[in-house]
Amino acid sequence: MADILKIRNSGPLVGRCTVPGDKSISHRAVIFSSLAEGRSYIRNFLDGHDCRATMNIMRAMGVAIDEISPTQLEIDGVGIDGLREPDGVLDCDNSGTTMRLLAGLLSGQEFVSVLSGTAQIRGRPMARIVEPLRSMGAQVYGRQGGRYAPLTIVPGRLEAIEYEMPIASAQVKSCLLLAGLYAHGLTVVHQPGPARDHTERMLISMGAPISALGNTTHSERPQSPLKPMSLFVPGDISSAAFLLVAASALSDSNLTILDVGINATRTGIVDALSEMGASIRRRERPHQGGEPVADLIVSGGGLQGLEFGGGQIVTMIDELPVLAVAATQAEGRTVVRDAQELRVKETDRIATTVSELKKLGARIHERPDGFIVDGPTPLRGTTVDSHGDHRLAMALAVAGLIADGETTIRNAHVTADSFPGFETTLRALEVEVQALDRASYNE
Ligand code: S3P
Repeated sequence: MADILKIRNSGPLVGRCTVPGDKSISHRAVIFSSLAEGRSYIRNFLDGHDCRATMNIMRAMGVAIDEISPTQLEIDGVGIDGLREPDGVLDCDNSGTTMRLLAGLLSGQEFVSVLSGTAQIRGRPMARIVEPLRSMGAQVYGRQGGRYAPLTIVPGRLEAIEYEMPIASAQVKSCLLLAGLYAHGLTVVHQPGPARDHTERMLISMGAPISALGNTTHSERPQSPLKPMSLFVPGDISSAAFLLVAASALSDSNLTILDVGINATRTGIVDALSEMGASIRRRERPHQGGEPVADLIVSGGGLQGLEFGGGQIVTMIDELPVLAVAATQAEGRTVVRDAQELRVKETDRIATTVSELKKLGARIHERPDGFIVDGPTPLRGTTVDSHGDHRLAMALAVAGLIADGETTIRNAHVTADSFPGFETTLRALEVEVQALDRASYNE
């Protein structure tokens, strides 16, 4: 896998492409199919490290998963009470979704489990799930009183709670809904804003007793088995975002991204770029597994700076690093606020985005809860670093597409966490991009 990406401005992006399957939906497809009774068929699964970690953990708990190809799985569900005690520590790798969703599921099991992963994930906050799980009666332990992983979960009797989430987080919500499947009574979760709702959609389609009304979701123990699924995972809008920004910023671009999931809890980046002046048309496609899908047709030119905050932030939380790149090319000031959650992602994405874009000449300033960008600024290619953060690596590649000269991105192998084939996709669009091993790279 390439450690270094070298990329050059290669003019407008013209053509058609696809992006890999949605990461959030792929995780859920593996976990929930494992709980069904019967065989599920998953196509366009995201073959990235995070989703593989989820898959390996479900296997370690006795679920048979056939890989027909890296993106096509057949999963023999064991039923909600059919998981078995794993032999060792469950490795979540670098994946917050794996750790937080599975902590909810494992709290309801009659066996002991330990969730761990990379140093990065062991430094991410877990109190947000540990505290509500404990108030349900779960026996969850972690470092520093449960604030950090590794998390150890021992069997405990779960009682339903009504919980007011302090932050709009789909991982927290999903964790509690999963624990709710094993609790006595009706678990009620109120979220302050509309965090992504793939868990609710998928579990409801499997016949689970989950309901969602506005920002409140309920879950309880199923009275009948969960139905297996046959699912084509829609393209990940978070991956499409890199191409949307590149095509919006490079005038004369005309790019069609096929079969992208356009769940309204995820389309903040499409709305933001459109409000800034990009032209993004949607050509509707058939729904997949209860999720709306469309081809996105984007053409470039004439972006204006804008202010973003409040409820819009959660609908584009993972896209804010690349939105910052778009803002460098927009006329006037762009302000992103209410985005303090960015500080506890794979990296402190406010700090890393600001420091790396500055190296390319961006006029960007950190705020406690976001950033300010003044544009338009001609970016200049130089050497930048992903800090081991896949979304930052690809945001920097988009900056490299806009910059003069050559941009070198170190630690670029992480693009495969969510967008395997990133450079191949760019190359097919006639972008000049080179992927190098560290060993073959001499400055
Ligand atoms: C995700 C939820 C979001 C998002 C992450 C994936 C999910 O995190 O940033 O990449 O699949 O539920 P939070 O729930 O922490 O906001």
